Amino acid sequence: MKTVLERDGAERISERLLLYRAPHPRQVATFADDVRSGLCAPTKHLPPKYLYDALGSALFEAICQLPEYYLTRAESEILARDAGAILDAVGAPLEIVELGSGSAQKTRVLIEEALRRQELLTYRPIDISASALVGSAGSLIASYEQLIVTAYASDYFDVLLDGGLGRAPGSRVLALFLGSNIGNYDPPRARMLLRALAQALRPGDCLLLGADLKKDVRVLELAYDDPTGVTAAFNKNLLGRINRELGGTFDLRAFAHTARYQPLSGSVDSFLIASHAHDVRVEGLSLTVRFEHGEPIHTESSHKFSPEDIEELGKITGFAVTRQWRDAAERFGLWLLRVV
Ligand code: AVI
Repeated sequence: MKTVLERDGAERISERLLLYRAPHPRQVATFADDVRSGLCAPTKHLPPKYLYDALGSALFEAICQLPEYYLTRAESEILARDAGAILDAVGAPLEIVELGSGSAQKTRVLIEEALRRQELLTYRPIDISASALVGSAGSLIASYEQLIVTAYASDYFDVLLDGGLGRAPGSRVLALFLGSNIGNYDPPRARMLLRALAQALRPGDCLLLGADLKKDVRVLELAYDDPTGVTAAFNKNLLGRINRELGGTFDLRAFAHTARYQPLSGSVDSFLIASHAHDVRVEGLSLTVRFEHGEPIHTESSHKFSPEDIEELGKITGFAVTRQWRDAAERFGLWLLRVV
């Protein structure tokens, strides 16, 4: 079927798949802007969202297969065991909204449970990548005849703050924010995002939040610095991306990946550490950057949570925790929060 433009600007990709693209992206800084300001800062840093180009996304998929990176498997274990109880607690009829849907692989079990309880289901995934959305939505509608997908290719804040999320009258919304993606936001921004979500929802709507639990430092550090070196490759790809897209001269062998748990912030912080003093040229930015021996670039923080942290986060953003589930080894949690 040829894509047809609807009156409100949405693209009808098929009878059951509609795509909205963000007309006015709120995030105006480009990769080039962020690389310049991060590498010129007194403590060098690069935003983690740039880890996910095509190669970075493939490396992240590989991370999820690693024995040391338990998060994905633990969350899937909970969903496989408890999807029925989760949907019973939400109530029907419902619509599902998902922040950062990616391949939507873990969402399938919830879609299947919902379709046991109601004839039709509307699924509204939000993801920055239109191609990932169309790919995953296409395979979902091929699998489930009673599924309707309205996809938003956008930054979460753009959809939530512009009141862009539609809903059918009389249905309750279950928002999904899985994979401990909340952990990659610094705490003030995590609060901003959940507040924006609570305001876009209505009292009685629910949020299913997947978050990694605080635990033994050795388990955490191994999950983010695996002996196979996949996480190191994922992190160093950020420098490779600067070379490819901005004409950089980073020697990836001159940097070492490290991941350290910081008990005070409750986060595993990842760095690339320069092995010797040297200069790097980024031609596209007309910039030369000096690295000293042992100087770090901070690339990502992955925050970990206690049940009290989630209660508190919910309370200050407009939600109340109603139930929680954990995997058998108690490494990861799913929290059901209700908008109050
Ligand atoms: C996507 N996000 C939740 C992952 C995490 O655990 O922080 C990204 C990741 N970074 C290194 N390994 C996985």
